[in-house]
Amino acid sequence: MSDKKEIILSGIRATGNLHLGNYFGALKKFVELQDKYDCNFFIADLHALTTNPDPDALHANVKSILAEYLAAGIDPEKATIFVQSDVPEISEMYLLLNMHVGIGELMRTTSFKDKARKCLGIKAPTEGDNDEAFEKEIIGADTNKRVNAGLLTYPTLMAVDILIQKATKVPVGKDQLQHLELTRRFARRFNSFYGVDFFPEPTDFDLSGGAPIKVPGLDGSGKMGKSEGNCIYLVDDPKTLRKKVMRAVTDEGPQGPNSPMSEPVANLFTLLELTSAPEVVTQFRQAYADCSIRYGDLKKQLAEDILNITTPIRERVADMLADEAYISRVVRDGAEKARARAAETLAEMRSIMGIRKF
Ligand code: TYM
Repeated sequence: MSDKKEIILSGIRATGNLHLGNYFGALKKFVELQDKYDCNFFIADLHALTTNPDPDALHANVKSILAEYLAAGIDPEKATIFVQSDVPEISEMYLLLNMHVGIGELMRTTSFKDKARKCLGIKAPTEGDNDEAFEKEIIGADTNKRVNAGLLTYPTLMAVDILIQKATKVPVGKDQLQHLELTRRFARRFNSFYGVDFFPEPTDFDLSGGAPIKVPGLDGSGKMGKSEGNCIYLVDDPKTLRKKVMRAVTDEGPQGPNSPMSEPVANLFTLLELTSAPEVVTQFRQAYADCSIRYGDLKKQLAEDILNITTPIRERVADMLADEAYISRVVRDGAEKARARAAETLAEMRSIMGIRKF
């Protein structure tokens, strides 16, 4: 692998099977990028620890995502595939970088607020955001409902994943953009504090030049996500998948020619655009516009087109999972490569910060 290629890095948390949001927001892009760039794709098991998972489930999740990476077509000959915790340099750099990160900016991060509210059982305010009440809740929370410090420093760890590999391009879905913005800020701050030009400022990336996307769920609003419980998984069997799609929320139908679309129906079209041929999308858009659309037909088409994408992946996942020796070899080789660059960055960072050997 030539050092001249731009360094790409991205990861997925080990919290369960991958869904269509992960696929279109991240995994599909990983596969497209691996021929042209110095690609590094990992499994974020340390990030998964923020929700205190069952230890056996965590390990099984790491393995299943590895199998899904490989089944989707990430080729370990082209891209470095590794597990985050196999690179201990990340944990040390996390400590160092935290010295330049403010708890205020971490507490204002949207993902932190969402997760902390969930831990404490507080509803998000409907209008604006009352930080003061929120902070009081967190500080005052009893120990059973605590918001752990790992959740707060999640963005530091994510910044470290990226900066330790000196990655400049990070393919992610829309929900990760704020974390990426923080990464740039931390990089800039470190460089300016020590008067160095050490960390590059990474940006999001997509081979087609498009902006990061949000894949919606089929329950009418919001994004597809595990905590939303509205996922279509890559490994869903055809029967389960068809059932999920046929149950998707719709509305009573267009209220007249060229009427605006409700959110649930617009969401179905977003999924159709991601999975179906352009002429199929045009045909259904036309049918919506002239009020001849039957949502049942739209859903059937959508289910089959999703299955066209997921079936080959699902079939390969089983083979990959069965080949434990292959998976171990892939991650051992991956960790070796990831550690080599991480160790270099960390050694330099320690020296810049004044931690030097006698
Ligand atoms: P995670 O595990 O939540 O999601 C993995 C990737 O899938 C994308 N994604 C989506 N994209 C579009 N629509 C959706 N509904 C959807 N749901 C998930 C996410 O944007 C992401 O790209 N913090 C990260 C993991 C991480 C990471 C990193 C990523 C840790 N360190 C360094 C990049 C670089 C996360 O929780 O992703």
